[in-house]
Amino acid sequence: MKRDFLRIKDLTRDEIYKIFDITKKLKNQRKKNRIFPVLKGLSIGLLFTKPSTRTRVSFEVAIYELGGNSIYLSGETTQISRGETVKDTAKVLSRYIDGLIIRTYEQEEVEEFAKWSNFPVINALTDLLHPCQVLADFFTIYEKKGTLKNIKITYIGDGNNVCHSLILGADLLGIEIRISCPEKYMPSEKILKQVENKNLVKIDTNPERFIQDADVIYTDTWVSMGDEKEAEERKKIFKSYQVNRKLLESTKKDFIFMHCLPAHRGWEVEDEIIDGKNSVVFDQAENRLHTQKALLCFLYHKL
Ligand code: CP
Ligand code: NVA
Repeated sequence: MKRDFLRIKDLTRDEIYKIFDITKKLKNQRKKNRIFPVLKGLSIGLLFTKPSTRTRVSFEVAIYELGGNSIYLSGETTQISRGETVKDTAKVLSRYIDGLIIRTYEQEEVEEFAKWSNFPVINALTDLLHPCQVLADFFTIYEKKGTLKNIKITYIGDGNNVCHSLILGADLLGIEIRISCPEKYMPSEKILKQVENKNLVKIDTNPERFIQDADVIYTDTWVSMGDEKEAEERKKIFKSYQVNRKLLESTKKDFIFMHCLPAHRGWEVEDEIIDGKNSVVFDQAENRLHTQKALLCFLYHKL
């Protein structure tokens, strides 16, 4: 049966650890030989209606190094932009390709693709979720801290797609996550309702509230793709949520700073933090490649 990856909870906790094991193997293997052709003969499409640097390039390189063929389809150049339905598109693509990685606005669109296609569908970001991102994020924490046990994550900023996937992932993996965000930009109730271990998720409007004992301090842009019209208003509301030296005065020495990138330097984070000794943002970005390779191997039952 085909497996989709539309949300982090499409995997079990054990499966996530299995993917981490595959990730470690592939990351080591790549140092010796980049080509590991377990997806030979498979074609995987990337259908993107929003911009991307990391997700697109890491998936294209992952597919190439696993011996497969990737086909980039920008949203505007497919017939979907002229009104062809997702159902018809999914049924047609099912006759040609073996998988589809989708970046779009509505979560319902990726769900619809998954419903009508006979291949694995991977969510490469919607307005609601960014599961591929947090797979790499939890792997990065695991790699840097050696464990996910007794880890405390503090997320500061917008209760957006990345924040939602971090909450659901933390819930699944049994990690405490604390969110500091303005009243108007709290995580969605729809997401919070899905949390099983309510005691693991705390939310507060005070940006300083969860700094002291944090092992991970995470932020994301205040203006996600699609929010551009609200940029000026958001900039004012989020001002006190900037991750800067003053906010981080009382941190543990060995906390790690994370950001999914792209960063708006000088907005949600100051240069001296993102470029500082606690920052792991480029290792985190690199891990997108390794975890997505492992995810593909897992979904196609290779390794
Ligand atoms: N973090 C992330 O998804 O980056 P891109 O938008 O560049 O793909
Ligand atoms: N929250 C951001 C993440 C970008 C990777 C956005 O949706 O634009």
